[in-house]
Parts: sequence; C-alpha cells; structure tokens
Amino acid sequence: MTTPVRPINLFEYERLANQHLSQMALDYYASGAWDEITLRDNRAAFERYKLRPRMLVDVSQRDLSTTILGQSLQLPILIAPMAFQCLAHPDGEIATAKAAAKMGTAMVLSTLATKSIEEVASVGNQTPQWFQLYVHRDRALTRALVERAYAAGFQALCLTVDAPLLGKRERDTRNQFVLPSGMELANLATLTDLEISYKPGESGLFAYFLEQLNPALTWKDLEWVQSLSPLPLVVKGILRGDNALRAVEHGAKAVIVSNHGGRQLDGAIATIDALSEVVAAVGDTAEVLVDGGIRRGTDVLKALALGAKAVLLGRPVLWGLAVGGEAGVGHVLELLRDELDLAIALSGCAKLQDIDSSLVLRL
Ligand code: FNR
Ligand code: LAC
Repeated sequence: MTTPVRPINLFEYERLANQHLSQMALDYYASGAWDEITLRDNRAAFERYKLRPRMLVDVSQRDLSTTILGQSLQLPILIAPMAFQCLAHPDGEIATAKAAAKMGTAMVLSTLATKSIEEVASVGNQTPQWFQLYVHRDRALTRALVERAYAAGFQALCLTVDAPLLGKRERDTRNQFVLPSGMELANLATLTDLEISYKPGESGLFAYFLEQLNPALTWKDLEWVQSLSPLPLVVKGILRGDNALRAVEHGAKAVIVSNHGGRQLDGAIATIDALSEVVAAVGDTAEVLVDGGIRRGTDVLKALALGAKAVLLGRPVLWGLAVGGEAGVGHVLELLRDELDLAIALSGCAKLQDIDSSLVLRL
C-alpha cells in the first residue's frame, strides 16, 4: 500500500501521522487500556447501526450549524480534550485552537495541555472554547485553573469523571512514558513543581495521576466545582442513564457519553451503545454529547440520530496536528464535515433538526 500524498479520509491521516511521531508519542496517543477491547469496540459498534434513509426530499440547501449550551457552532463536531499536543507538533494546542476557530467549532482544552490557557484563549476565542478540568488533590491549584479559564474567556467547564486513577495503557508502561525535556504542563508548572517525570517500570503519567489527582471525588463535589466560577458545567465520562440523571440533578447542563477513547476501564461499553439510555434518562433536562471512535460522517449522523446534540473528535485531531499543524487539524475537520454534509443529504435531511431516531436501526 502506498502512502497517500494528501489524505482523503481520517484513516489515511492516521497512517500518515505514524510517520511523523516518535514511538513514545504514537503509543501514548493511539493506545487504549489493557487489551484495548473497548478501544476496538468503539469503532466496531458503529457498524452494528444501519441507516434508513428517506428519499425524494429537497436537500439542495443544507445547514450543519447548531447551538450547544446556547453557543453557536458551525458544525456539530467539537474537539475533545487531549493532553500533550506538543508531542504532535511544536504549535500544539495553539494550532488546534486556531483550526477550531477557523472551522467555527469549539475546542476543549485539557488541564494537561502543553500551551497555556491564556495563549490558547488569545488565538481561538472567536468561537467558544471549553476548559477540561482534572481535580487535583490540591484544591487551591484546582481553583486557580478554573479561575484562569474563566478569566481568559472560556465558556464552559468540562469535568472529566472517568479518571480517578489513570487506566493502564501497557504500551506506556513499556515505554516508561515521560514528556521530552523542555515540554511541560503549561498550566501547572508555574503553580507548583508538578511534572510528568521518569518512573522506572511505569508510565510517568500513571504515576502523576496516582500522586496528584483526587481519587476521592464524589457527586457532592460537583457543587464545589461549580462554586469556582459561573461557567456551565459539562460532565464528561458518563456511560449510564442513572449517572447522567445524577449529573443533571447536581447541576450539569450537558453530559458527554464517553469511555475516554477506550483508555480507562477496558471492557466498558462502546459509547454509541451507551448513548440511547443516557438520552432517554435525561430527556430535555440537559444536552447529551458523545465521543469515541468517530471517524466518518456517517458515525456523526448515527450519533445525532440516537439523540446526541453533537459529537467530540479525539485522536484524528492529533493525527492532523502531527501531519500538518493547524492546516492538518483544519483539513481533518473539513473532511469530517464534508462527509457529514453528504451523509445527511443522502439520508433525506437538509438540516440537523431533520435527523431523528427513525433514521437508525441497531441490528
Ligand atoms: C484523551 N482524552 C482526554 N480526556 C480528558 O478528559 N482529558 C484529557 O486530558 C484527555 N487526554 C487524552 C489524550 C489522548 C492522547 C487521547 C487519545 C485522549 C480522551 C478524549 O477526550 C476523548 O474522550 C477520546 O479521545 C475520544 O475518542 P477518540 O475520538 O479518540 O476515539
Ligand atoms: C489520557 C489522560 C491524560 O487519556 O486523560 O491520557
């Protein structure tokens, strides 16, 4: 198989990105927990859903725009929070933020970013930006992160709840994952001496979570998290209807159905399989988003048909970043947007509001 010159789909970006990344970075980005069953199943599950298109609908004018949390987006595809983007490209999260802004969508910035909250805000906040929070044992440090994100103009706080400890990614254990010298946790370095350091026989990131993150976090802490700023709360990492409802009862305005891209609990349900139960549980009390294994426009269409308001895209953004920086991320988003545009047209939908549950059937 020859290497594509300019990728024409997200899988080709993945293949090409392999040539641009160090083994340690590639393994960190690509891997899932333990046997990677959930990682594979996130993809495989999409194939079990079949589309039931409607014919002879006027689809000459199409519109992919939407609103999430009252914020306008040009497409229902956000960028998932992902740590350490400078491993893919020197511009890291700055490039991702610029591409998101150009495409009219929202980027979620990770707590573990390699560019600062303020730098990212300054290049990207023509469109909404959200900040993803990892609650550290040090509450003052956690508070400072949220206050900075709010002050910089971020428009939602996305609390990740599926990582009280880090899942075991065995490739990272084998590589004794560590950030290259000179690369740092841009939003934590000035607050403390937190760093991802070399741990013999272990992933430095696994050790970081064990030492620094608060594994005692429970539902009652959601009130504290919300007291830190006026930002709307989005809870990321929900896989059950009862948990989704609980998040909403504790103030969440949106939930993200996610298994962290198969990186946390291996054997966890594929997100597209978990989506319907969550949608049914929360009804119209909150918005539901989903991520995990989205690689084609038809995957986005299936997620929307099952009741998601939008999806988040993970690894393909990193592949785009590795291949071409801002332009690469932009092209990845364009490819997925154009596939979605074609998929909705072929399904007999002109706008996202035309998509309903009758379009999809699980076999
Ligand atoms: C992630 N993810 C993640 N999630 C989060 O809440 N905070 C984080 O810092 C990170 N970091 C991170 C790094 C890398 C390299 C990956 C691949 C993923 C999870 C991410 O937000 C999302 O849930 C999944 O990546 C979505 O699945 P796909 O699209 O990658 O299959
Ligand atoms: C990861 C963490 C940082 O998945 O969320 O690697």
